[in-house]
Amino acid sequence: MNDPYEHVQKNRARWDAVAKDYVAAGERAWMRTTPCWGIWGTPESKLHLLPGDMSGKNAIELGCGTAYVSSWMARRGARVVGIDNSEKQLATARRLQRDHHLEFALIHGNAEATPCADGSFDFAISEYGACLWADPYRWIPEAARLLRPDGQLVFLINSFLHTLCADERDGYPAHQALQRSAFGVRQIQWPGDPGVEFHLSHGDWIRLLRASGFEIEDLVEVRPDDNATTRYDHVTLEWARRWPCEEVWKARKRT
Ligand SMILES: C[S@@+](CC[C@H](N)C(=O)[O-])C[C@H]1O[C@@H](n2cnc3c(N)ncnc32)[C@H](O)[C@@H]1O
Repeated sequence: MNDPYEHVQKNRARWDAVAKDYVAAGERAWMRTTPCWGIWGTPESKLHLLPGDMSGKNAIELGCGTAYVSSWMARRGARVVGIDNSEKQLATARRLQRDHHLEFALIHGNAEATPCADGSFDFAISEYGACLWADPYRWIPEAARLLRPDGQLVFLINSFLHTLCADERDGYPAHQALQRSAFGVRQIQWPGDPGVEFHLSHGDWIRLLRASGFEIEDLVEVRPDDNATTRYDHVTLEWARRWPCEEVWKARKRT
C-alpha cells in the first residue's frame, strides 16, 4: 500500500514502531464489557459516545489501532469495519479477534481515502485515531462520504486548550500558561517524535464539519473523576480537573 502523503507514511512508520507498547492496553480494553474513553478511562455512562442501539447498524472505526472500540461496537450488534494505517497495530487487533472469537472486517489503509462505498455506514467513530493523526481536511470529507444521511460521526481528541498549553518535550505535562499561538495551528510535529499530528481550533472544526455536510450536535469537554488515573504523562490530573484536556465532537450528516 503506497500513499503519496508524507504524513501518512511518517505516521505508519511511527505506529508500526510503537505498536508493541499498545498491546497490553489493547488486551485490557478488549476485556471490558462496558466502554470507557480517552486517557482517563471516562465511562460511557458519562460521555455517551456510542448509540444506545447498534444492532444491525453499519459502523466504521477510523484509525482503529488494536480495535477495542470496534470490538465494543461488534458486541453491541453492529456490523463493524475497522481501518488502520499500521499493519503492526492490526496484527494485535487480529490476534485479539481470534482470542475473543469475535470477527469483523479490518482494513489496512488510510482513513482519509478508504476503499468503502459511499453512504455505507450509519456510524463512524475515532478515538485518538484518524481524528488526531490524519489530515482533517481529508478525513472529515471522507467520513461524510462514508455516512448515510442522518449518520453520526463521533470523535475524541486532545482539547485545543491542551494543544496550546502542551510542553513540546516528551514526558513533560501541560503548562498552566499558553505555550503557542492559537492561530495557524494545523499540523504539529513534536520534537523527537517522528509522527505528525493534526490539531484545529474550535472555529476551524465547526467550519470544516459544516462545509462537509455535518450539523454539530455536541462538544463534550471531558472532566475526569477526582480519582482517575492515566498511563500518559502529557497532562496531570490536577490540570485536567481544572481545564478540559480532551474533548468529544458529535456531528450528524445532514439529510
Ligand atoms: C492511539 S491509536 C487509536 C486507537 C485506540 N483508540 C487508542 O487510543 O489506542 C492511533 C491509531 O491511528 C492510526 N492512524 C494514524 N493515521 C491514520 C490514517 N491516516 N488512517 C488510518 N489510521 C491511522 C495509527 O496507525 C494508530 O493505530
